[in-house]
Amino acid sequence: MSRSTLPLPALPQLRRTTWALAGAVAAASGATALELRRRLAERPPTRALAPDSDLVRGAAARMTTPLLPDDYLHLLNPLWSARELRGKVVKVVKETDTAATLVIKPGWGWSFDYQAGQYVGIATQLRGHWYWRSYSLTSTPRRDQGHISITVKATPEGFISSHLVSGLEPGTIVRLAAPKGDFILPDPPPAKVLFLTAGSGITPVMGMLRTLQRRKTMPDVMLIHSAHNPEEALFRDELRVLAEKYPTFHLHEQLTEIKGKLELNRLAEVCSDWTERETWACGPSAMLDSAEELWKNKKIPEKLHLERFTVALAGGGGEGGTVTFQTSGKTAEVDGATTLMDAGEGVGVQMPFGCRMGICQSCVVGLKEGSVRDLRSGAEHQAGDRIQTCVSAAAGDCTLEV
Ligand SMILES: Cc1cc2nc3c(=O)[nH]c(=O)nc-3n(C[C@H](O)[C@H](O)[C@H](O)COP(=O)(O)OP(=O)(O)OC[C@H]3O[C@@H](n4cnc5c(N)ncnc54)[C@H](O)[C@@H]3O)c2cc1C
Ligand code: FES
Repeated sequence: MSRSTLPLPALPQLRRTTWALAGAVAAASGATALELRRRLAERPPTRALAPDSDLVRGAAARMTTPLLPDDYLHLLNPLWSARELRGKVVKVVKETDTAATLVIKPGWGWSFDYQAGQYVGIATQLRGHWYWRSYSLTSTPRRDQGHISITVKATPEGFISSHLVSGLEPGTIVRLAAPKGDFILPDPPPAKVLFLTAGSGITPVMGMLRTLQRRKTMPDVMLIHSAHNPEEALFRDELRVLAEKYPTFHLHEQLTEIKGKLELNRLAEVCSDWTERETWACGPSAMLDSAEELWKNKKIPEKLHLERFTVALAGGGGEGGTVTFQTSGKTAEVDGATTLMDAGEGVGVQMPFGCRMGICQSCVVGLKEGSVRDLRSGAEHQAGDRIQTCVSAAAGDCTLEV
């Protein structure tokens, strides 16, 4: 009988089966079922879990064939999944009227070996669909902490960010994608650092500052952060405490409703030695574009590290068409504005992804037939090209190698 046609056992039987599974798993590891549950519950969720989890998965797979272990394991604990990384929202902390920090306890397979400044993929279920977005980690990469955090600012008209800020209950299970990104501080950090941030762009930098503080190594850091007003400024109190605590940490807060926007050509008025500093910048596209130009004009582009949260899709749409996902054997009818990534995920294809913003190249797949359009530049790609599905749309019928 195939996996999809095998009826699921009735609930009491299922409960017995999960306990039987725990027993079998325990036998494989030389422990009683209760002892195994206790040991798993007590262990800090670090990489050191991997041997136990592999053991459990292996024993579970043998016991549950032809069903997958996940079919039973998630009944013991929704964070136990061999198929995907999951997390449980344990706390939602309101930061401002439009922003919240989500504290998430990751499940099996998660590694706390990420680096401050990296981002994580998170998927939440809404009206029966899972939607993925990327968020910078604001927590420090500590193995013993057992949780991670992201801070989300609700984007006006944003579909998922508003839901994450005000629609998630503690206990909600989310899907996670492993941390990624090269917007990171070297260890040890440079002697002189400039952080240039605005709005929610403070989030990866907050992860870096918290990490520097935890390591008790605060170099000469200047943070220039712009927010509309004090009420909207993220982490305001924490940053002020940092500035009081560390004489080497200098904070310039630019409240734009009072002082206006910081013109980057007047940066020296706020930070006289900015050209000597290694700089990490994150904020709206316009600010980052200006920074790129300025650092280039000063002939120090290598000193500037950027993180973009948005991508400008200025290239117009594609024509739309039928997209065939060759390996998965699925098809989707799409319009010219839908990205191939959304199209694939919409019909249940496991599309590779990272930033979902055209930055990281994790989503690149081969275009087997037809043509697609890059939504940023409008450039058309033909069969044989490798394309970024997160920023491309169908320009007629096409076939992807995924
Ligand atoms: C590497 C990376 C890290 C990120 N880290 C964070 C973070 O720490 N905190 C955070 O709040 N967001 C972060 N983002 C942005 C986040 O992934 C989402 O894009 C954002 O929350 C909007 O999602 P949405 O579903 O609400 O908007 P959508 O429904 O996808 O978009 C709605 C509209 O908002 C516009 N839009 C999308 N994102 C933004 C934005 N950031 N600013 C202004 N307009 C936007 C879109 O162009 C669209 O017009 C990050 C993005 C990337 C690529
Ligand atoms: S997912 Fe990062 S470039 Fe497409």
